Amino acid sequence: MSGKLYIRTFGCQMNEYDSARMADALRESQGFTLAESPEEADVVLINTCSVREKPQEKLFSELGRYKALKRKRPELKIGVGGCVASQEGAAISQRAPYVDVIFGPQTLHRLPELLGQSASAAGPVVDLAFPAEEKFASLPTPSAASPVANLSVMEGCSKFCSFCVVPYTRGEEISRPVADVLAEAIQLERQGVREINLLGQNVNGYRGPAPTGGLEDLAGLIRYVSKLEGIGRIRFTTSHPMEFDGRLIDAYARFDKLPPYLHLPVQSGSDAVLARMKRGYTAAEYRNKIERLRKARPGISIASDFIVGFPGETEAEFEQTLALVDDIGFDQSFSFMYSARPGTPAAGMEDQDPVPQRVKLERLQRLQARIASHARRISRNMVHSSQRILVERRARRGEGLIAGRTGNNRWVNFDGPASLIGRFVDVAITEALPNSLRGRLLPESLAA
Ligand code: SAM
Ligand code: SF4
Ligand code: F3S
Repeated sequence: MSGKLYIRTFGCQMNEYDSARMADALRESQGFTLAESPEEADVVLINTCSVREKPQEKLFSELGRYKALKRKRPELKIGVGGCVASQEGAAISQRAPYVDVIFGPQTLHRLPELLGQSASAAGPVVDLAFPAEEKFASLPTPSAASPVANLSVMEGCSKFCSFCVVPYTRGEEISRPVADVLAEAIQLERQGVREINLLGQNVNGYRGPAPTGGLEDLAGLIRYVSKLEGIGRIRFTTSHPMEFDGRLIDAYARFDKLPPYLHLPVQSGSDAVLARMKRGYTAAEYRNKIERLRKARPGISIASDFIVGFPGETEAEFEQTLALVDDIGFDQSFSFMYSARPGTPAAGMEDQDPVPQRVKLERLQRLQARIASHARRISRNMVHSSQRILVERRARRGEGLIAGRTGNNRWVNFDGPASLIGRFVDVAITEALPNSLRGRLLPESLAA
């Protein structure tokens, strides 16, 4: 079969990466092109997330929309992939019997075959195996749509934090060999990519087979990627504080292709909550690592993830999180209300010691206000500074404006020709707005 493909993606950057690979696989094998809307598609795929209850519920409201389309056009194929598919499997078809294919994060490379099988199958075709290495070996060359690209270097997570579904939906950690990661990075570089985001649910747990034998860690992988001349910036996400070690801190001192930005989820500032979460570090250990990192790279922005209202979280424990936010001065971060996930150890604690919803909401608002005030201060302090920007696209708003991100991950809009897209330029920051910065191109940087 061939035709038009529409993909709806929920969840993290790994899901975005996977959706792009699904499009690559169906384009290469069967000539599928992307549709602008589900109404004009022959195949609709939903790449799902089950990290919290809300994203999971989105799947079923989204499916309701496609059910109506399928009633009008029975030949429309509907596929569900990602973490909800991995966790719920065939149960999805009990609630949505019109789904044709159910596949997991590790079997998306088999999509062309699964869609083919569904043409003659009586019920949904389900494939939720965990052959991660086969997935990467079977996928075609990634196509780059922007100067910034994601590159998955490892899959799964073996940390088993007590609240989290990821180890169950994605399986245990498996790292890709350094040579495969480099081959993909080179292909991206040839297509004009200038910034690579190395991805993994627990990316600093990377231990990939090295070209010279043995295993390479993330710092070693960064050293390899930094040798690619066309790649000017290397980010990585998401790291776990436990494995954020001296070698990575040292990498920040050595490689200026690592921008002055680190996303290092802490989740809580209370040792008691961290222990119940099974995070494997204390707030003091986290503070100490950031202190060492700031010595290696003064001025670096630290972003994080937080969960409020974990089972049994007291007001005093929550206030320890606020204290940590002030001590570290976290930049733009992600914070969530705790959501019990079936099958995780914390779901049992939730039955016994839940934090009421209104308390969770109130703590979330207080935490977000605190983080936002630090982020605004950091933005204000950037006014009048010169920042290196990778120009990514025309600005969403504003005639003649182009847009790119600073090292510390802020969008800057400024006047300039679209021919600069894909280039690093220097920009003087002129104004700090709530969600972005305004700047002025420094023409001297164009000579470089
Ligand atoms: N590996 C990363 C780490 O160790 O922090 C996080 C990956 S997880 C997919 C992204 C974020 O979702 C977590 O950092 C956490 O803040 C949030 N999260 C995970 N499970 C959650 C739950 N049950 N309720 C609320 N938020 C959750
Ligand atoms: Fe989930 Fe991250 Fe913990 Fe892994 S390290 S179990 S992905 S929160
Ligand atoms: Fe969601 Fe799975 Fe990512 S649960 S956050 S899509 S790893």
